[in-house]
Amino acid sequence: MHISVIGTGYVGLVTGVCFAKLGHTVTCCDIIKEKVDAINAGRPSIFEPQLEELLKGAINKGLFRATTDIDHTVRDSDVSFICVGTPSQPDGSINLQFIRSAAESIARSMKDGHTIIVKSTVVPGTTESLIPIFTSSKKKFHLGMNPEFLKEGSAVQDFMNPDSIVIGYSDDYSRKLLEELYRPFTCPKITVNLRTAEMIKYANNSFLATKISFINEIANICETAGIDVTEVAHAIGLDQRIGSKFLRAGAGFGGSCFPKDIKALVAWSKSKVYSPKLLQSVLDLNADQPLRMIDILKSVVGTINGKRVSVLGLAFKPDTDDVREAPSIKIVDQLLKIGAIVTVYDPKAMDNFRSIFGDKVKYASDIKSCLKGADATLLVTEWDEFSKLTIEHFKLMKSPVIIDGRRALDPDKLLKMGVTYLGIGWKNK
Ligand code: UGA
Repeated sequence: MHISVIGTGYVGLVTGVCFAKLGHTVTCCDIIKEKVDAINAGRPSIFEPQLEELLKGAINKGLFRATTDIDHTVRDSDVSFICVGTPSQPDGSINLQFIRSAAESIARSMKDGHTIIVKSTVVPGTTESLIPIFTSSKKKFHLGMNPEFLKEGSAVQDFMNPDSIVIGYSDDYSRKLLEELYRPFTCPKITVNLRTAEMIKYANNSFLATKISFINEIANICETAGIDVTEVAHAIGLDQRIGSKFLRAGAGFGGSCFPKDIKALVAWSKSKVYSPKLLQSVLDLNADQPLRMIDILKSVVGTINGKRVSVLGLAFKPDTDDVREAPSIKIVDQLLKIGAIVTVYDPKAMDNFRSIFGDKVKYASDIKSCLKGADATLLVTEWDEFSKLTIEHFKLMKSPVIIDGRRALDPDKLLKMGVTYLGIGWKNK
């Protein structure tokens, strides 16, 4: 099949490269020429395991290219996937401007009988709302909605090994086309109407975010009662009705999806006259959760003004350079407000963090230089290299104090070394 993909963000690029790996001819479109040139040179615009290798392989086989020329690309393809961003408006509602302009470009260039599939995360009813745009082209078209469930850091792996595939369709042709495209995958395929497909994506992300805020709430209660939340999470995770995944307590969820999507669902639902209570609490709890690390810090070092605080981990999760909505931003911002001298280190996300904080903080080139002379350290992202901290690291600090915001370290081992260990959901009192 000849596939065009509009948008070369996480979803667009991974979708395009993976469909090329499955043998389709794919062209990805983006309006930013530098991004397109880099992709054509085999350099993905994002850091993602396996992606570069697959991209280079697909380019070499002649199955993949990127372009800024959306008109020719759409005209020469059978199906277009819309994978553009759906950012938040200031009130949390979804901004559909890029979706509409992608739809307008496709409508202008498509041939009779073209199929359009929305893959971006959009509130229920959005895909149907594009119908007048395509109808105005006076050409026949087919419309589908096929949400994506990939995670940053394992996006290729997730695309190639899905738990399920959701096929939202408006007519038999779009359903059959999606079934054909996903024929190599043996997982369950859910065929539903367009708005159900859109809702499934929001329900999925909302449930996962709720699970995280739930365990964070339990963690906050545990701290006051001398209970270790990881023991509680482990035990309840063995109940198969609950399951062990997404029960890691910590400094809260970030990234480009959970915060944006839950806010969009809440705002959309409110506009339909139902004000979600549970999901609003999930957001509220998550907004406060990063700052709990500072409360714990205060409880051990007293006043923060003038203290040297090192922050290990800036990305919203390990194995990515992405700092969008990362808890580290809130934590560092607050530390600076209360007069701390902050040094930060992250294996991949330093440049992205620098673009937000500029020279307000010091940037260390490795863990040791980050810890040197510090009054306390906050572990905010659980990169694997932080789990290997030894006494040699802590000897460099002015006082060996660590607040574990991801429960990534072994408290018993550190306490035996003479380190003052505190953490989210740990027996701090
Ligand atoms: C999330 C979903 O997991 C994907 O299924 C979905 O496709 C994607 O959003 C999207 O909508 O595009 P992602 O944002 O890449 O993927 O990252 P996750 O691995 O889900 O982590 C999100 C945040 O939750 C991170 O800040 C992570 O540290 C936090 N988290 C995760 C916890 O605090 N505890 C956990 O147990 C799990």
